[in-house]
Amino acid sequence: MEITGRIDEVRKQVKEWRRQGLTVGLVPTMGYLHEGHESLICRAVAENDKVVVSDFVNPIQFGVNEDLATYPRDIEADKRLCEHAGADLIFHPEAEEMYAPDFSTYVEMQKVSEGLCGKTRPTHFRGVCTVVCKLFHIVTPDRAYFGQKDAQQMAVIRRMVRDLDIDVEIVGCPIIREEDGLAKSSRNTYLNQEERKAALVLSKAIFHGEALVKKGERDADVILGAMKEIIEAEPLARIDYVEMVDADSIEPLTKAEGRVLAAVAVYIGTTRLIDNFIVEV
Ligand code: PAJ
Repeated sequence: MEITGRIDEVRKQVKEWRRQGLTVGLVPTMGYLHEGHESLICRAVAENDKVVVSDFVNPIQFGVNEDLATYPRDIEADKRLCEHAGADLIFHPEAEEMYAPDFSTYVEMQKVSEGLCGKTRPTHFRGVCTVVCKLFHIVTPDRAYFGQKDAQQMAVIRRMVRDLDIDVEIVGCPIIREEDGLAKSSRNTYLNQEERKAALVLSKAIFHGEALVKKGERDADVILGAMKEIIEAEPLARIDYVEMVDADSIEPLTKAEGRVLAAVAVYIGTTRLIDNFIVEV
């Protein structure tokens, strides 16, 4: 496995693979890799001849008061995980390699990026779309792998690829959880012992909401009300949103119909965590 911080070296390697007629998968990440990321890498390894993992804490997707400075980093551990999972190349650039001092071009999306996380993080998806678009141009993958953990991000990326005619297949992968249900996240490392316990209200609410839909409940107010009740019972939890939307358009739903995404964002202390379920009704 190779690692490089240079765009020209990635291009050179991919060109050589293409010359050999090999397919290329891309797994975009911000590093501090865990089993959630690993599941994406393993899927990519299974479905492509060569796999590139990008490992880059993308500054432009963080808001001014967010955790860019403290976002956890451990490139040595990331290298071991990627090697073990069978990746071929890690792209680990410095911010300067990705963003020239006079960088001035952004991919901006309406609607899909405006609900849910877009409300509290108004510049987040512009940063995500811009960096993912750049990564698609640098790596030119046949397939790119994203987790349902960030369901709105997946909807946004799929819409960007469709709208801008980017020639890549987007592969969605299920949420990987801790044994007790908490969705794996690099940000779980911010939680102290007490907060870690409190964080279980997210997955509890998600499992309960999903069970209600599967039992036949269709009224969004009833489902979301029951989910909110679980979260509000935890003193350390503060709800950012608990919503039901169409999984592709991210338009709010009053009835569970079609491809339904129920998503929550909750502050546990100062740490903002997200979780969701998607059901076809
Ligand atoms: P990051 O949070 O590092 O996540 C990278 C990928 O791993 C995303 O597609 C995310 O959905 C997936 N992932 C994270 N936790 C997961 C879990 N528990 N189960 C399954 N998949 C999981 O998402 C980003 O980085 C960035 O926004 C990025 C797309 C790299 C752009 O900077």
